[in-house]
This record gives sequence, C-alpha cells and structure tokens, in this order.
Amino acid sequence: TRGPAPRLTVIGTGYLGATHAICMAVLGFDVLGVDVDPDKIERLGSGEVPFFEPGLPELLAKALDTGRLRFTTSFEDAGEFGDIHFVCVGTPQQQGSYAADLTYVDGAVTELARHLRRRALVVGKSTVPVGTAARLTELVQRTAPAGTDVELAWNPEFLREGYAVDDTLRPDRLVFGTQSPWAEEQLRAAFAPVIEQGTPVVVTDLPTAELVKVAANSFLATKISYINAMAEVCEATGADVTGLAQALSYDDRIGGRFLRPGLGFGGGCLPKDIRAFSHRAEELGVGQAVSFLREVDAINQRRRARTVDLVRELAGGDLAGVRVTALGAAFKPNSDDIRDAPALDVARTLHRAGAVVTVVDPAATGNARRAYPELTYGTDVLGAAAGADVVVLLTEWTEFREIDPQAMGAVVAGRRIVDGRHALDPVRWRAAGWEYRAL
Ligand code: UGA
Repeated sequence: TRGPAPRLTVIGTGYLGATHAICMAVLGFDVLGVDVDPDKIERLGSGEVPFFEPGLPELLAKALDTGRLRFTTSFEDAGEFGDIHFVCVGTPQQQGSYAADLTYVDGAVTELARHLRRRALVVGKSTVPVGTAARLTELVQRTAPAGTDVELAWNPEFLREGYAVDDTLRPDRLVFGTQSPWAEEQLRAAFAPVIEQGTPVVVTDLPTAELVKVAANSFLATKISYINAMAEVCEATGADVTGLAQALSYDDRIGGRFLRPGLGFGGGCLPKDIRAFSHRAEELGVGQAVSFLREVDAINQRRRARTVDLVRELAGGDLAGVRVTALGAAFKPNSDDIRDAPALDVARTLHRAGAVVTVVDPAATGNARRAYPELTYGTDVLGAAAGADVVVLLTEWTEFREIDPQAMGAVVAGRRIVDGRHALDPVRWRAAGWEYRAL
C-alpha cells in the first residue's frame, strides 16, 4: 500500500513542464504549475495549451475539472505547497557558443530554494551538461533557509514532441539519479502509477542520470546521420538508400527506427544536445571520445545544402525568380515547433538565392511567419502550389504524403518535385508525369 501521495510542483511550464504537470494531475496527484511568464500561467489556468500537442488540450481540461491542477507565478506558493519540485525549464544553446545556457535552471532553482519552507526534494528534469546536478546540490543547500531539509535528485525526460502525452504516461523507462534512499522513495511515490504498469526503473547517481539523456539523444542523432551518410554514398553509386535502410532494419540489433534517410534532424533538442555534449566533453578533457558528434552534425547540415542543390538542379541551374512551393515548416510532423527546423532552413536558403518561396504547413505557419516574415505563406496545399516551378517536400506530414500527384499536376505546370523526406511513392509520381528527385 502507498503512503499519502506527495504534492508536486512543476517549475517551468513550457513544453516539458506543462505536459508533465498535466499528466501528473491526471494520474491523481495535486499539482501546482509555476512559471515566471504570467501570460503562460493565465492561458494554462484557463484551459489553453500554448503550443500544439495532440491530446494535451483534452487532458488539461480534464485535470482542471478535477481541481487537482493549478497554476501560479508565485514561488512562495510553490515552496509552501510542494513535497517534490520538478524543475522543467529550458536549456537552450548559448549565443555564439556550443555550450548550454543554464541561466534559467540556475534562476529557477535559486528562486525555489529561497522559498522552501519544509522538507522537500528538488528534482531536475531539464537536459543539462553532466556535473550540473552536483553544482545545484550546493546551490540549493546554500540558498534554502537555514534548517530546511532539502535534497536534489535528477530525473531526465525522454518525451518526444507529438507523442508527449503517451511518452509521459507510458514511458519506456524511468531514470532516478538520487543521493539517498529517501529521495528514491519520494520518486517512487511520485511515479507509483507509472511504475505499477511495469515500467523499468533505473536508480543511479546524479552524473549518470544527467548523462543518460544526452547519451540517448546523441545515439539517436548518430543513427539518423549514419543513414544519411549512407545516402551520400548511395547517391555517388546509383544505389537506393531506402532499400538499403529497409534491409538493415530487419537486423533487430540495428532496428528500423531513426533510420529514415532524408533532410535530417532539427528541433529544440537533438542539434543543441549533441553540441552541448561535445562542448562539455571538451571541458572535461574527453573531447576526443565524442569528436564523432561533430561529424554527425556536419552530415546533418550537408543534407540541407544538398536539398537546396536538388531544387536548383531541377530548376535548371539558377534559382533567381524560380517559384518554389515548400511543403513543411515544422521540424517534424505533428508539431508546430520551428526551432532549428530543417524545412525553414532550406526555405530561407532558397529565398536568399533569389527563389520566390511559398511555405505551407498544417500547424507551424503562424510561428514561421513571426520568425521569418520575408517568406510567403500559403494556407492550402494546392493553392500554395499553383503556378510553382518546383515543389519541395520538407516535413513529412500525412497531409503531404496523401497528395494526389494528378490533382497537384493539374496546377503545377512544371511537375518537378524534390522529396526531402522519402515520403512519396516515386513510381506513382513519375506515372503522373512528374520529374521526381529524392535525397
Ligand atoms: C527528441 C528525442 O527523440 C526524445 O527522446 C527526447 O526526449 C527529446 O528529443 C528531448 O530531448 O526533449 P524530438 O526532438 O521531439 O525528441 O523529436 P524526434 O522525434 O526525436 O525527431 C528529431 C528530428 O529527427 C526531427 O527533425 C525528425 O524529422 C528527425 N528524424 C527522425 C529523421 O530525420 N530521421 C529519422 O529516422 C527520425
């Protein structure tokens, strides 16, 4: 039997924190979401999820209905309310450096520690350079009011955008970096409903817990760049990288996931995480151990350049004045996130080379328009494609996979398409009279 359920706070209600807070409330905990941004708090409190994530708005409504989920900007409330405090603020790449920017983590932990009034466990979930948790342990102990019993633990998060709810409610593993049996007990209580489903739990120390996250993301990035490196070799030999990837995938030691060749990875995590990891490893004097991550990054960047080249080739060698329809802006389907989006990187390079680019995306055009007002944005696929010289598929939304090449051919006189994600059936498109090229 379980003891009384711990009361949880979630500090930082961005992508990770909002999802975590909502899911924990749905699992039956009393949860207080905390953020310095009053607008975000206001929107979440009134039932609005400030970003696109399938299934999350419904769960937010449900959680608010139960009365178990509240939002505040007050760290004082947080300190009074919580037994366990999850720190979920962002760690973006620093301007002009590969290092992670820890300003938000340090700020949130300091502000929280100052307002702790009773025994508490502070749990970091943010992705941080290894060694940060040890430093924060000291910071918390130095900052918390004298006599307050407070400990720090680390619990990395592996959720994917677009599948955030499922990944949170049914994760494939839980990792607890702890410094005492008490901290482990607290974390086991906070995740009891998840653990009861049979989810494996790895209990370890702080540096291992921090490293698991970057090691996992580095592996995934490496896998993607590996198949994209093979794509470069295939292109030089006339071999077919999709057939190659398929044949590799049947070896279950390799597996087919994250082995889709194409335009490569982007988003707020993989690119900055491999860079921050390289940077941290160099600081620790073991840069050589992960020097291959530089190559992983370089292969990934070359995909973007190669996509631009293919569009240029199809356009006859010069992009000036060429009308290009870009299918996709988000860094991946089922997301409105445009952070380091390969799609927009390609669209902007085409634009700078003189092409007239119209971007269409089912969810991300609002964000894209705010960030890159120089591009033109369409609302529907056929409308955006009308009159194009070249169409380029950059994000593999289902809506784009299902485009009828005949219908699109009726509005695109040139019938030239670059498939940046191997998302279309070349046979079908060629049969409909299209010149089809893929990476
Ligand atoms: C990634 C990890 O998958 C999560 O486990 C992790 O928790 C998260 O980062 C994070 O650190 O917070 P996410 O960035 O949401 O999740 O997106 P992914 O689904 O991993 O896709 C990343 C990029 O790789 C996308 O641009 C996608 O298009 C690309 N990709 C993925 C490929 O190019 N090929 C593939 O085969 C798979």
